[in-house]
Amino acid sequence: MGGENRLLRLLLLLFSFSQASNGLRDLEIKVPEAVRRGSSVELTCDYDLEGALLYSIKWYKDDQEFFNFVAKEAPPTRVFPVPGVSVDEFQSGNKSVMLRNVQRELTGIYKCEVSGDQPTFHTDVKTAPMLVVDVPQETPRIEIEKNRFKLDEPIRANCSSALSYPAANITWFVNGTQITPRRSWIKEEGAGLETAISEIRIYRPVFTEGKLNLRCVASLFNLYRRIAELVVQQSDQETSPWPPASVRHSDSASAAGRGGSLAAAALLAAIISIIR
Ligand SMILES: *[C@@H]1O[C@H](CO)[C@@H](O)[C@H](O)[C@H]1NC(C)=O
Ligand SMILES: *[C@@H]1O[C@H](CO)[C@@H](O)[C@H](O)[C@H]1NC(C)=O
Ligand SMILES: *[C@@H]1O[C@H](CO)[C@@H](O)[C@H](O)[C@H]1NC(C)=O
Ligand SMILES: *[C@@H]1O[C@H](CO)[C@@H](O)[C@H](O)[C@H]1NC(C)=O
Repeated sequence: MGGENRLLRLLLLLFSFSQASNGLRDLEIKVPEAVRRGSSVELTCDYDLEGALLYSIKWYKDDQEFFNFVAKEAPPTRVFPVPGVSVDEFQSGNKSVMLRNVQRELTGIYKCEVSGDQPTFHTDVKTAPMLVVDVPQETPRIEIEKNRFKLDEPIRANCSSALSYPAANITWFVNGTQITPRRSWIKEEGAGLETAISEIRIYRPVFTEGKLNLRCVASLFNLYRRIAELVVQQSDQETSPWPPASVRHSDSASAAGRGGSLAAAALLAAIISIIR
């Protein structure tokens, strides 16, 4: 009986809270999910005080307060020492805080707490994670056991991303179509850096005019994206009769095109890099 009563009171309390919405609404924290080490980053909290005045906004990293803005104080801004955190006080205020030269240790959960002034002193809190990353300095690399393959020979290739933290995402495309790697893994390379390695196997390569395009894309959030590309050559094209008689070859016969000259089969490897 008493339990039911408490529950009812709790519900009424919650209800009255949700009704009394004047004072602070739509609190929204804007923290980039990933930032480059060494860069400056602005963290923002948007809010609607519905006409009330701001009392304070406080910023925390992993529950340690590092900056606050109290409207009635002079000066209104205050910085608290938190290891690794360097606040640009002049570019921080009642909505945002600017962090300079962010280092790895600034990876964490950020929180802003906004309070309206009297009479209600409504307070709300929002949190968001931020990851400080080391982007790769180079393009990914494709490794392949050889450059020419017979039609019925499986193609095996690896792609490894350049050193970064965390390891980049790797995706593979064979002539423009994304394929699922056979396996992928991450290797720790010391100094907190990693590479991602991804291995593909193509059991029945479909060559076009004796060629097949392998493409490996390495990306790190929206901070880095580069491509390695390699053209694999069909090695038995020059010796096979034209048109190919073998039924086994029929799946690629239509695509094989005309061309003994193409079968000269020099490896054409191109690294294309697209830097954002
Ligand atoms: C925040 O500061 C700006 C510039 O000083 C001011 O125009 C704005 O009204 C302030 N907002 C609040 C909620 O205090
Ligand atoms: C891919 O990497 C694995 C593991 O290092 C290795 O065993 C394999 O030979 C590599 N394959 C190619 C084609 O480089
Ligand atoms: C596949 O890629 C190779 C090499 O870039 C190209 O010659 C061939 O035309 C492509 N085939 C198709 C179907 O796009
Ligand atoms: C890798 O890709 C996944 C899925 O698209 C994405 O959620 C994740 O953030 C990416 N990781 C990196 C390091 O870019």
